[in-house]
Amino acid sequence: MKRLVIVSNRVPVPKEGLRPGGLAVVLKDLLARKGGLWFGWNGACHPDAAHLPPEIQKAEGVEYATIGLTPAEYRNYYTGFSNSTLWPLMHSLPECIHFERRELASYRSVNERFCENLLPLLRAEDVIWIHDYHLLPLAALLRRHGVRQPIGFFLHTPFPAPDMLATAPDGGTFLRDLLKADLLGFQTADDTANFIFAASRTAGAVTVDDTTLLFEGHKVRVGTFPVEIDPQTFAATAAAAMEHADLHRLAGSLAGRRLVFGVDRMDPTKGLDHRLAGYERLLHTYPARQRQVTFLQIAAESRTDVPSYQALRNRLEHQIGQLNAHCGQADWTPLRFLTRGSPRSTVAGYMRLADIGYITPLRDGMNLVAKEFIAAQDPENPGVLVLSRLAGAAKQLEAALLVNPLDHDGMADALERALAMSLAERRERWQACWDSIASHTALGWGLSFLDLLHKTTEA
Ligand code: G6P
Repeated sequence: MKRLVIVSNRVPVPKEGLRPGGLAVVLKDLLARKGGLWFGWNGACHPDAAHLPPEIQKAEGVEYATIGLTPAEYRNYYTGFSNSTLWPLMHSLPECIHFERRELASYRSVNERFCENLLPLLRAEDVIWIHDYHLLPLAALLRRHGVRQPIGFFLHTPFPAPDMLATAPDGGTFLRDLLKADLLGFQTADDTANFIFAASRTAGAVTVDDTTLLFEGHKVRVGTFPVEIDPQTFAATAAAAMEHADLHRLAGSLAGRRLVFGVDRMDPTKGLDHRLAGYERLLHTYPARQRQVTFLQIAAESRTDVPSYQALRNRLEHQIGQLNAHCGQADWTPLRFLTRGSPRSTVAGYMRLADIGYITPLRDGMNLVAKEFIAAQDPENPGVLVLSRLAGAAKQLEAALLVNPLDHDGMADALERALAMSLAERRERWQACWDSIASHTALGWGLSFLDLLHKTTEA
């Protein structure tokens, strides 16, 4: 029996009682079902972390092995190269990229520490699945230490176009490192195509067919695996949440106004400033909508040590104040903006109550919130999804109102169209979106990746 070993930067350690977000929810189900080991960072910082062995704990059939980061590693590897260089680079936001060589060096040495700490825990029958941009060199490091077990890698972010990748310090090395895995998974066909192009142009990989590359005598499969949610479970959570006191309070406070709703991490990729500008444009272009709508945006604070996130927060605070001061009236606040996260079930209820899901990232690997918004709706009286066409989810949710997240007039027009939409059209659009997510599950996503990894390495 093969054992699944998942490696990701952040591990939702059970004893901390964390509420897992996107990646964590998806992987937790998979590990709970298959059993196995989850290796990564415990989310803590400690001056001696580099000398401490992994902490092992078991919960619900899953083994967790976690290490800490030193304050310097946290600064240089996590806040620095991972989130100030790679994250904006992967999302094609050059103006947010900040690059320091010492941060790249730390990124490499933390990957080496992941490798050294993982090696003694590995068994011959393991299947290793590495996740996300924090760990681009890891597959190659493991191979260099003689690891022969199957290795898969999945990138949760977009994979950028070739000339964007050229801004990556040492981009060619990252490509060659990734090509040491057996299967590389991406969110959309465009991401996969970008990778294949870069791997053949920059790293000298040879394209065998649409999904196979040959690199230094090693065959690598490349595939598109859009991350999914559990739509039925989320729908049930949303329906049940309507009875919560929180929901009654929100509904009461709206006093009959239509609810526009967004929920994100406060992150420069999420397009929050443009989103607010699009909403403000609605109120100016369609003044009849003033007093008829309330926009509730939850933007949970995230990566608060990264300077571009701090700058975003400052900009937004200014913009929120201006919007409410200029557009508000004595008995109407157009925008409610919260930086505290809310429980998942409450958010599901907010989605169901909303007339419009307003989700406009500048670019996003997938955006599971968009899928959750669809799942949360009442099929008899569904809300409308206004979605950035640059989110991976837009490839599946084509029946949403797709917008350019930089086009304030376009977003205002889409909001107006959603507010005016007939029940028949709302149902038709919702049904088409639901049909495209209803037959998938997060577990199915994980199993299909592992299945192809198995076929690739057994062949
Ligand atoms: C994105 C990334 C994940 C990351 C998550 C939360 O979804 O793809 O790898 O874990 O954001 O970010 P954080 O920096 O708090 O782990």
